Amino acid sequence: MSNPSPVAIRQTQLLIDGVWQDAASGKTFETLNPATGAVIARVAEGDKEDVDRAVAAARRAFEQGPWRKMDARERGRLMYRLADLMEQHIDELAALETLDNGKPIRDSRNADLPLAIDCLRYYAGWADKLEGKTIPIRGNHFTYTRHEPVGVVGQIIPWNFPLLMLAWKWGPALAAGCTIVMKTAEQTPLSALRMGELAMEAGFPPGVINLISGFGPTAGAAIAEHMDIDKVAFTGSTEVGKIIMQAAARSNLKRVTLELGGKSPNIVFADSDLDAAVEGAFFGLFFNQGQCCCAGSRLFVEQKVYDEFVERVATRTARQIVGDPFDPNTTQGPQVSQEQFDKIMGYIQTGREQGAKLVRGGGRVGERGYFIEPTVFADVDDGMTIAQEEIFGPVLSVIPFKDVDEVIARGNCSLYGLAAAMWTRDIGKAHRLAAELKAGTVWVNCYDVFDAAAPFGGFKMSGIGRELGSYALENYIEVKTVTVAL
Ligand code: NAI
Ligand code: MG
Repeated sequence: MSNPSPVAIRQTQLLIDGVWQDAASGKTFETLNPATGAVIARVAEGDKEDVDRAVAAARRAFEQGPWRKMDARERGRLMYRLADLMEQHIDELAALETLDNGKPIRDSRNADLPLAIDCLRYYAGWADKLEGKTIPIRGNHFTYTRHEPVGVVGQIIPWNFPLLMLAWKWGPALAAGCTIVMKTAEQTPLSALRMGELAMEAGFPPGVINLISGFGPTAGAAIAEHMDIDKVAFTGSTEVGKIIMQAAARSNLKRVTLELGGKSPNIVFADSDLDAAVEGAFFGLFFNQGQCCCAGSRLFVEQKVYDEFVERVATRTARQIVGDPFDPNTTQGPQVSQEQFDKIMGYIQTGREQGAKLVRGGGRVGERGYFIEPTVFADVDDGMTIAQEEIFGPVLSVIPFKDVDEVIARGNCSLYGLAAAMWTRDIGKAHRLAAELKAGTVWVNCYDVFDAAAPFGGFKMSGIGRELGSYALENYIEVKTVTVAL
């Protein structure tokens, strides 16, 4: 395993009103290295009292601070400066991400960080482009709309892409002129804390960005229930998404956007470029240790090529290099936590019991850390638990199908609707499926192609609202209609 301290831990406190501080309770919690189970650092544990203070600071910064009166273009400039600082510290941030989350350094360095930086720059460019309309109403009136920031926003993020989720949430909120109280995931607080330092260095006024490390039922719930938070944005489990929405309804009807789970169909037709489809089937599930909300976890393969395809995917999976995430050759690191490890091993057990055919993997790798063998189940039936529930781990289910209408119906037969993909050379079929699949994102002959400009989010129980692109800005804006008698 790697050097026990591949990167310095500079910051473990809470960021409230531009000041790094301990939790009001004085409590701290441990964050662990998933590759070893060892403690990396103790981090200040925020709860309701800290959230209250952060919200008060964010409210002051929103109503009175320089942020609100600042030129929109200057707001954008601060965001560009933050993106530049991230770029200057890209290796450090990537190392923090890998240390805390366990993802391979090649991924954090080449995927998470560049995408997060690009996202901030994309939204920096939007800061001075949020325009209302003039509207021709009846009578002698002049009517126009103003697009105003929604106010103080609470943002609760998960551990699977800590920095990228932060960027997806900070980007549109800051561009719109909101102020932020963010709670990071208890498994992965470290990279966001470093981002808080960089934000202060970039020159964001105190109270614009507040960071609370801590747990869901305490700090997270305090955000969802807060009477003075205007909007909450959440990414995580569907179960907690419901709790957030209930809390918003019970408290002040704060606006809610949710980005939740998925059980995305990845559909391979016999007429596709099978080499590309094998790679797409593999990458679509195993990327990020399978810990992706949009993972292609139901791999539907046309009967004609099914046996061949199962074998080829299994062979591809065998080339996965599981181990020390700081080794540049590693392609699969540990799962994020013991809890996730146990949950995934439970699903593997259930898959076996319910009669799916275990083609590869299924076991633990090594004696310490939360490593799981890349696992492939064939002959999975739609009714099996592993075909219905989100596993969030390196477990692929391969499912045969016969024709197009059947696979559309079966692909859509899920409570979720986050993403879908297909592999085919038939352009008509591709567009027909793209229209019929109930998913927020449909990839054709590709998988996991993300861009800050392309909206992302879920149909059905995969969520409410869209992140990224111009669409995400709407979540952070109130439209005000002004009518003047002439
Ligand atoms: P989770 O939904 O419990 O955690 C996500 C975030 O919500 C964390 O910051 C957590 O502290 C916070 N949270 C938890 N309970 C809360 C509450 N009562 N009020 C406010 N905030 C709360 O997800 P968890 O437990 O880490 O993972 C469980 C499953 O959720 C995973 O196995 C996976 O299936 C799914 N998941 C989906 C993600 C996605 O990207 N859509 C990300 C992470 C997990
Ligand atoms: Mg949870």
